[in-house]
Amino acid sequence: MIDRQEPQFETATSTRIVFGAGAVDRLGSLVREHGGSRVLFVTDPGLVKAGHAARAIDLLRTAGLDVAAFDAVRPNPTDRDVEACLAVARQQPIDFFVALGGGSSIDAAKGCNFLLTNGGAMRDYKGHGRVHTPLLPLIAVPTTAGTGSEVQSFALIADEQTHMKMACGDSSAAPRVAVLDPNLATTQPKSVIAASGIDAISHAVESTVARNATPESRKFATGSFVRSARHFERVLANAHDTEAQGEMLLAASMAGISIEKSMLGIAHSLANPLTAHYNMVHGRAVGLMLPHVVRHNAADRGAAHWYASLAREASLVDDSESDEHAIDSLVAALSQFLVAGGLPTTLTTAGVQKDHLAALAEEAAAQWTARFNPREVTSADLLALYDQAFG
Ligand SMILES: [Fe+2]
Repeated sequence: MIDRQEPQFETATSTRIVFGAGAVDRLGSLVREHGGSRVLFVTDPGLVKAGHAARAIDLLRTAGLDVAAFDAVRPNPTDRDVEACLAVARQQPIDFFVALGGGSSIDAAKGCNFLLTNGGAMRDYKGHGRVHTPLLPLIAVPTTAGTGSEVQSFALIADEQTHMKMACGDSSAAPRVAVLDPNLATTQPKSVIAASGIDAISHAVESTVARNATPESRKFATGSFVRSARHFERVLANAHDTEAQGEMLLAASMAGISIEKSMLGIAHSLANPLTAHYNMVHGRAVGLMLPHVVRHNAADRGAAHWYASLAREASLVDDSESDEHAIDSLVAALSQFLVAGGLPTTLTTAGVQKDHLAALAEEAAAQWTARFNPREVTSADLLALYDQAFG
């Protein structure tokens, strides 16, 4: 059991992680500790409805902080969401951001922070380190176990016109603190738990084999996968299982730390065009493609070694089993997660048109994540993977 009052775990990467049931109660004092007095609070309409937003604002005001709020973040935020947030930010002087929500709210707050402190438009910050003034401090309070944005220096903002995702990063954009409170995750619908959780799992699997992976990033990725493989089906079965929700929040943040160091791979490259053209939720698209990507990448000896290692660490197979068998078990587990989460397992069920696949593959090849995949890929390879996923 996790004690209601005392956070159970605290560590420091570049983002300080404050973990535990009831950890959000410390929000006001954490903002003060990090020098804030006038806060822009960023969230989405779902969290307003669930009552979490009002409670968080109350905690901030009780701590004597001035609070302005932007509560209209949409899923997969675009530069339009960032501009709307910026309009609120400019109505009063602020010196601190607090974001409550999934990756969308956290990324919108980061995006707004770029424009408020440095001017210009989101596209000016594509890449890393394009700011001249450090961003204002941000505390992120994730309510889903998914993107890992709460520990990352990048904001993913889609271009409103092209729907291409822009990765805009700076070391000062990383949240000062991530508050991981499993009590906040219990009100998510199952569809959100499923899509977020499979995204976090995909981050661990992709970053383990990514070209930039290091022993340190693999430690976080493996720790993440072991946690999520054990607890994903528990949170799907019971959203109020706060112990399992806590493990999933930790898993998502650990995978986020791994990505920050190692980047991702082609499951994400293949997913982004599906989100852009078919409005598929990010996690649903990534999760659908992942088993096919693992099979494809396992032809690379190094990738095969690390996939097998993940399967063994998560006890999907005995240590004595061959790499080949271990990889089969990993693919089987990833496929089972889709079924357990009620997630689509083929592109047909996701409503994708077969004659559109070649164009989608061209777009997938242009995604930045493809550069970090362990195997070099062409648009023909990516088309073959879409074909396999078509079912
Ligand atoms: Fe993702």
